[in-house]
Amino acid sequence: MSLLFTPLQLDSPRGSLTLPNRIVVAPMCQYACHLDGKASSAQPWHGGMLISKAQGGWDTVAPSPVHLLEGEDPPHEIDAAGLVAIEAAFVKAAQRAQAMGLEMLELHGAHGYLLHEFLSPIANQRQDNHGGSFANRTRFPLQVFKAVREVFDGVLGMRLSASDWIEGGWNLEETTEFTHMLKQAGANFIHVSSGGISPQQKIAIGPGYQVPFAKHIKHAVGLPTIAVGLITEPQQAEDVLKADEADMVALGRSFLYKPRWGWEAAAALGGKVQATSQYWRSLPREAAGIFGDAKIGMR
Ligand SMILES: Cc1cc2nc3c(=O)[nH]c(=O)nc-3n(C[C@H](O)[C@H](O)[C@H](O)COP(=O)(O)O)c2cc1C
Repeated sequence: MSLLFTPLQLDSPRGSLTLPNRIVVAPMCQYACHLDGKASSAQPWHGGMLISKAQGGWDTVAPSPVHLLEGEDPPHEIDAAGLVAIEAAFVKAAQRAQAMGLEMLELHGAHGYLLHEFLSPIANQRQDNHGGSFANRTRFPLQVFKAVREVFDGVLGMRLSASDWIEGGWNLEETTEFTHMLKQAGANFIHVSSGGISPQQKIAIGPGYQVPFAKHIKHAVGLPTIAVGLITEPQQAEDVLKADEADMVALGRSFLYKPRWGWEAAAALGGKVQATSQYWRSLPREAAGIFGDAKIGMR
């Protein structure tokens, strides 16, 4: 029996949500703009560089005016009013999600986006009560999480970078401690990625390179955990779950390349998926059965 295609139950204040399998499509929305160090960048196929204000780029904000690359306009340091406005914007977005009936939300605290910037001593060089100590750096991300938790009662979790991959940066120990705090604050899952705070990062990249982070956090904290990063093969994904290294696996590039990766994985591992009836005739012999009892007739 394939674990990848075994349903998973996630709890939330609203009740439990049962996912039909343990495959997650990793977020891939970097083509839009964001309110942080990555904000106002050109699309990747246009080079992905920061668009300067002279070229019509945004006035960006961050915990500290630290620029990513030499020669870039640094972001503005967020002041007290800015923090209030940003928290309110997160709450409004969560209220819209609640009103729409969304079942699951993931807050972004990874990859150099704003909440990660607060966590990381590389990006956060503030002298006030939002910078310096671990308690100070986690204050705003935790506050935003709690504020969202108050208005959204579905499954709620956070994506974190488990390491900045830089000496003196945010690390696995801090991520584990922060995940404990999120759990206390009502998180229902954690999504473990890494990196993204600075081009100085030295990532040891390879198949499943972030899985050890997910495994550590899962066992230390006991929250349902998503592993991500160069998990590309069905058996590899299955093995991550079998070894109890994570509860779900997320794939990004594999889904861009093969949108039907889930179907192929079902064929390889003997799993079942649901498909719109118009697709029922599509199956090659080696995948027969992945749609379960779906039957088509013709005259
Ligand atoms: C085109 C593209 C866009 C991405 N955009 C985002 C994003 O907006 N937010 C994010 O957290 N990660 C983003 N990622 C990272 C993925 O979510 C994922 O963590 C990463 O690609 C590693 O997984 P993979 O090896 O399966 O691709 C993006 C990745 C790709 C390839």
